[in-house]
Amino acid sequence: MAKTSKPTFYITTPIYYVNDVPHIGHAYTTIIADALARFKKLDGYDVFFLTGTDEHGQKVEKAAARKGLTPQQLADKVVVRFQDLWKALDIEPDGFIRTTDPAHERGVQKIFQRLLDKGDIYKGTYQGWYCVSEENFLSEDVPAAADGTKVCPDCGRPATLIKESTYFFRLSAYARPLLDFYAAHPTFVRPQGRMNEVVSFVKGGLKDLSISRTTVRWGIPMPGDPAHTIYVWFDALHNYLTGIGYDGDMDRFQKFWPANVHLIGKDILRFHAVFWPAFLMAAGFALPECVFGHGWWLKDDAKMSKSKGNVLDPYVIINAFGADPLRYFLLREVPIGHDGNFSHEAFIHRINSDLANDLGNLVHRTLTMIRSYFRGTLPAPGEETADDAKIREAFARTKDAVHGHYDAYAVNKALEEIWAYITLVNKYLADNAPWKLAKDPAQKARLARVLFQAAAAIRGASYLVYPVMPGSARKIWAFLGEPGTIEATPFADLAFGDFAPGRTVGEPTPLFPRVDLKEFLAEEAKAEEAKPAGPAPAAAQAANTEVPMEQITYDEFRKVDLRVALVLEAEKVQGATKLLKLKVDLGPEQRQLVAGVAETYKPEELVGKKVIIVANLKPAVIRGVESQGMILAAVADDKAVIPFFEREIAPGAVVK
Ligand code: MSP
Repeated sequence: MAKTSKPTFYITTPIYYVNDVPHIGHAYTTIIADALARFKKLDGYDVFFLTGTDEHGQKVEKAAARKGLTPQQLADKVVVRFQDLWKALDIEPDGFIRTTDPAHERGVQKIFQRLLDKGDIYKGTYQGWYCVSEENFLSEDVPAAADGTKVCPDCGRPATLIKESTYFFRLSAYARPLLDFYAAHPTFVRPQGRMNEVVSFVKGGLKDLSISRTTVRWGIPMPGDPAHTIYVWFDALHNYLTGIGYDGDMDRFQKFWPANVHLIGKDILRFHAVFWPAFLMAAGFALPECVFGHGWWLKDDAKMSKSKGNVLDPYVIINAFGADPLRYFLLREVPIGHDGNFSHEAFIHRINSDLANDLGNLVHRTLTMIRSYFRGTLPAPGEETADDAKIREAFARTKDAVHGHYDAYAVNKALEEIWAYITLVNKYLADNAPWKLAKDPAQKARLARVLFQAAAAIRGASYLVYPVMPGSARKIWAFLGEPGTIEATPFADLAFGDFAPGRTVGEPTPLFPRVDLKEFLAEEAKAEEAKPAGPAPAAAQAANTEVPMEQITYDEFRKVDLRVALVLEAEKVQGATKLLKLKVDLGPEQRQLVAGVAETYKPEELVGKKVIIVANLKPAVIRGVESQGMILAAVADDKAVIPFFEREIAPGAVVK
């Protein structure tokens, strides 16, 4: 690859788990990255913006099993949902990595081997608690829920006790080097408060980290010991290296590494600010410049979760308003490090006031006046008065301030500056009242000046807004009859007066139609009600948050032998919080089953009950106990709920 003299800028998002389809939270990180990447491109940088999907690990393995798919099938379905959403949001990454890409797998194995050779990875036994939801090994003080089950202190979901042979990474040896690194690079973690959190965590002492699993099959095989798969976080973090070419396209890798910024949610700070730099130090790579931990988006002041039913589907917003208003709202409403609250009221207020009133109206009024007073073509404007000069000078100040804010990842401040400028231009139009000047033919040149000033201001402001709302900015430039494109105009060259007289402006279409909150909420409620009734149209289908299952034929279904079974005995499986061992009567025979229902039922509650089992499932050994079938249960909030019979029925009866 040819070397360019441009400075480089490498920005990443976390890679998203494919256990579920994307929501507003995932969109948030990726929109920030897209906006910053677009800004840096305008600013003359050779940019690489990487995103992708995290496809291995127990969480994905389990989600796939629940849906009756292989993990690879699930990943292949869900990855498309992410890629489609990025397109719908006008997000244009330069690279998209999947951790099941063979090149990624090879790169991870190579680095793992390097650490083994160096003695930074050694074999041992791990005994302790694990959170599958966060794919995280928990420290000793794991809290218990009211019913005594241990839960993850971070996400509150049940923790699993594991004891298995594992390979450890010598993390403890890196506590001192990490602290020295943080001291020398005080802005490594941003915002500052998060840096302090990280430093005190490391000062509290670091234990060696388990980085292989024998009980998880869905992962990259460990080089030299294929009974182990590589821990999903070790695998995932290295996407930042393999995604730019390690160790295939080494020119590109060398060009972009180390990253300028890893954008992440605050939930995964420790993995990025402690484990990741330690892995990199151990393997001899340079360290990234910054890990930026952004806040959480809440919905109506509550954390979004599937069980609460308040997960926001981005397509509902995109289908109704387009991508730009959503991009604008998420980036304008809160500084990147803070939590934000998504409410329809706040969102629609922003559309109506900032977008429709302030920017949309300004563009519409100005262009309509140029069209009706000058048939779309401005003549040479009259002299610039002191009042006109203020608009020009304020633009130069705004441009500098906006540059500084984008550069400091303070996108909301950049937008505030731009809107302060738009307000100023609106006031200028109100004060100079071109509609009054138009009534006096002697004021033609003055009228041309006022409209010229407004058009030049709009041109500049829309350029500045482009990183956040690329589609709308491009439209405004097209309305203005711009000969060039925003993308081909370097930030440094953006000048206020670059609006040559004689050009013809087009007819503006409304950029941001006003929205009636009540009507919108009523429409949304109607759409919700309509959802289960029959096949959804294509757009609504995209909004459906479930990964669709494949259809099967009746003959395929008939292969499943479903039977009524009477529970004779039930007891807990040692060391497993979720499992019960059951003895069931199937009429002609008795069977032993292992069922993941211990979180919902006490053993004695099940004895004497009749349940439905899959009687012809191949036996499997679960936690050392043979299971000769499987109980059917609904899964709600990760807990199993068994359907029972309301009438007497003989054990062994066929269910179909
Ligand atoms: N796969 C890991 C990351 C590995 S990176 C080497 C993971 N994936 S995730 O699918 O759970 O996505 C996590 C990221 O999504 C968060 O860090 C954050 O960037 C984003 N968000 C998910 N929900 C969010 C909100 N409600 N609000 C804001 N962002 C959140 O963790």
